[in-house]
Amino acid sequence: MPSRSDGERTCHVSVMPDEVTQWLIEASPETIIDGTYGGGGHSRLLLDQLPVGRGRVIGLDRDPSVALRVESETHDPRLTVFVASYEQTPKALAQFDLAHADAMVLDLGLSSDQLADRERGFSFTQNGPLDLRFDPENGVPASRWLASHDEKQIADAIYQYGEERFSRRIARAIVARQRERNPVDTVDDLVEICRRCVPRSRNHDIHPATRTFQALRIAVNDELGILERTLAAAPGWLSPGGRIAIISFHSLEDRIVKHAFRDDDRWEILTKKPLRPSESEVANNSRSRSAKMRVAARRA
Ligand SMILES: C[S@@+](CC[C@H](N)C(=O)[O-])C[C@H]1O[C@@H](n2cnc3c(N)ncnc32)[C@H](O)[C@@H]1O
Repeated sequence: MPSRSDGERTCHVSVMPDEVTQWLIEASPETIIDGTYGGGGHSRLLLDQLPVGRGRVIGLDRDPSVALRVESETHDPRLTVFVASYEQTPKALAQFDLAHADAMVLDLGLSSDQLADRERGFSFTQNGPLDLRFDPENGVPASRWLASHDEKQIADAIYQYGEERFSRRIARAIVARQRERNPVDTVDDLVEICRRCVPRSRNHDIHPATRTFQALRIAVNDELGILERTLAAAPGWLSPGGRIAIISFHSLEDRIVKHAFRDDDRWEILTKKPLRPSESEVANNSRSRSAKMRVAARRA
């Protein structure tokens, strides 16, 4: 499959579109933060639901190729997109002389556009450099991360962020290969190690490299750290009654969201149990099958 070039249209299908718009628009927001702009699907749906000519959506994404795509498209003048982490929301608001937003959505993880780009290393079914960064212009690629951590640190990360039972075996194989001056530089290098170290699951439903790639992606992008810090600060970024909707795709993220909402009195939990995509959404968009959405409001 050819590498995606900048400016191409998005191939990402937004997850839980009706739920995101319903829960956020109900609070009649003027200013909405789309903290994970991606293909812009949620932003477009939210703009469609705002009163004509009113309100604004501020999009943020760490991936510079997202901004290039936005520049190449004609888009609603009420939309502005910044290349920045959602942790930088106050700075984005300050560009509009605002201290607060009225609604915020975070749709965590990676987009189908990123998955389809073999230069990014996100998909273990296509060989390419083992990078795994959302922002390839900052930080270190996963190959360098592996070269600069010891066996225990690698094993701990794969266990903690991937919940991979065979983490020690995988870390040992990575380090053994590196010792032979044969670094783990490509997607195929790491997939080959995972295939050797992880027995096939009984029903073959999960690829042996799935958990390890998830773990490395979380580690190189500090995904959980950013989410935790954001949840601790976000009540201060929202106006009273302002809402936040967070879609997560694995239990580590969902646990952080659940606990942050539960343990901070500034949040009013609006969804006691996480919302799940409908059966028809899952049938049409298999990426949505593990999605869980939680919504909270900043107490007045
Ligand atoms: C699942 S996609 C979002 C798709 C989007 N909601 C849509 O409907 O098109 C997740 C996006 O979040 C971005 N991302 C990941 N971590 C981020 C962070 N800390 N700050 C901003 N964007 C981030 C990724 O680069 C990716 O483009």
